[in-house]
Amino acid sequence: MNASLAPAWLAVPRDANDLAPAVWPHSACRDADGVLTIGGVAATALRDDFGTPLYVVDEGELRARARRVRDAFQDAAATRGTEARVYYAGKAFLSAEVARWVTEEGLNLDVCTGGELAVALAAGVDPVRIGFHGNNKSRVELEAAVDARVGTVIVDSVTEVERLAAVAAARGIRQPVLIRVNSGVHAETHDFLATAHEDQKFGFALADAPEIAALVRAQPGLMLVGVHCHIGSQIFGIDGFRESAARIVALHAELSEIDPLPILNLGGGFGIAYTSVDDPDPIEALADGIVAAVAAQCAARGIPIPRLAFEPGRYIAGPAGVTLYEVGTVKPVRVSDEATRIYVSVDGGMSDNARHALYDAQYSARLASRSSTAEPTLTRIVGRHCESGDIVVDAEYLPGDVAEDDLLAVPATGAYCYSLASSYNHVPRPAVVAVRDGRARVIVHRETIADLLARDAGLTPTSEGNRCLY
Ligand code: LLP
Repeated sequence: MNASLAPAWLAVPRDANDLAPAVWPHSACRDADGVLTIGGVAATALRDDFGTPLYVVDEGELRARARRVRDAFQDAAATRGTEARVYYAGKAFLSAEVARWVTEEGLNLDVCTGGELAVALAAGVDPVRIGFHGNNKSRVELEAAVDARVGTVIVDSVTEVERLAAVAAARGIRQPVLIRVNSGVHAETHDFLATAHEDQKFGFALADAPEIAALVRAQPGLMLVGVHCHIGSQIFGIDGFRESAARIVALHAELSEIDPLPILNLGGGFGIAYTSVDDPDPIEALADGIVAAVAAQCAARGIPIPRLAFEPGRYIAGPAGVTLYEVGTVKPVRVSDEATRIYVSVDGGMSDNARHALYDAQYSARLASRSSTAEPTLTRIVGRHCESGDIVVDAEYLPGDVAEDDLLAVPATGAYCYSLASSYNHVPRPAVVAVRDGRARVIVHRETIADLLARDAGLTPTSEGNRCLY
């Protein structure tokens, strides 16, 4: 009945209960009753204990992915006689527990605001393992970073160089600094024309980088240790990274003629599967290809390979997360005389997953509280917000008997869902629960209506927080 509404990429599944390995955590399976379990914990038990909507993160999966990406880059670097350090990009999903997990797995941490820095420090992350990003770091944030003795600050503007130099000099500190450079390669489009892509807020143009390097080197409070470049996010193939590496090594070589630069940071952006049709290159292939490209460029210029750094976020956190929702209404909507679309409304929406609204992102979904032999039926999974663009999963085949009170699970929601969440329509943000070895524990508390009311000065006149600067 609904075939005409299905997007071309979406095939009718042979079994609408299956859990495609590319998009689900390795631990995900169905128990004897057909209930989805993650990390050994049944979705129905998670609902009973913690309520819905619920972000569920498989700790074992997140840690395993952190180790895998660390090993991929370290092995690729060791083969070429250098070292690689992997920074977890906390913007993908940061909490104190996550900061501890990734650092226990040997990673460093990339933060991009004073708030993320505060989480990292409060979690006990060794400051020397922190890289501090951001295109508009305030003086207060820079003071906090320098006072904490963060390992590196990645500078993004002349204003920031001046601010940071003053902050460090006032404290008698030499702050290690990387310069963020826009290589002109924005891999989303796979278009390597530099001039087409310079019009965005991050970093310095390649052509300006030598002048900025000289400015940094002239500051007694700063120590230039390298260049940084990040070409974009959710990238599946090697081409953009390779082209960017070539351009950035050329700059590195030029700047190293004046004084050696120990570090080359090539950012993150490694893609993941959100649906079963997504097919990113394995991280080992990407790591090896990128490091090989750097090595070849260095060899061609007769310079040693610098120590490398990478900043994956989504790759580590994304596939470790699953969001659980409870179904409310199931409504056939007549789209035309020929077609009816089944709208399945859940108890969350764009406030806990803004990615369809923001990026047209596609997701998949499965019944979680049971399996079903009912015929797969095309559905659109929508939220509870007062907005027609409040779509969680644009198109998915669910068993045709999906009904009120069923649980649905949306995989690959571990990155940029909790971190982009809002309380739109006064819908409180969900809790985050970590599952591992059959146990579940809250790692981020659920926001409550009381939390929201407490911020409303018409109801709660006094607050300690209004003067907080970041
Ligand atoms: N390093 C830098 C300097 C970055 O700007 C980013 C992401 C990363 C590392 C990590 O990128 P990843 O490995 O996670 O792709 N909200 C968007 C993604 C924004 C990414 C911003 N920067 C989304 O939901 O897709």
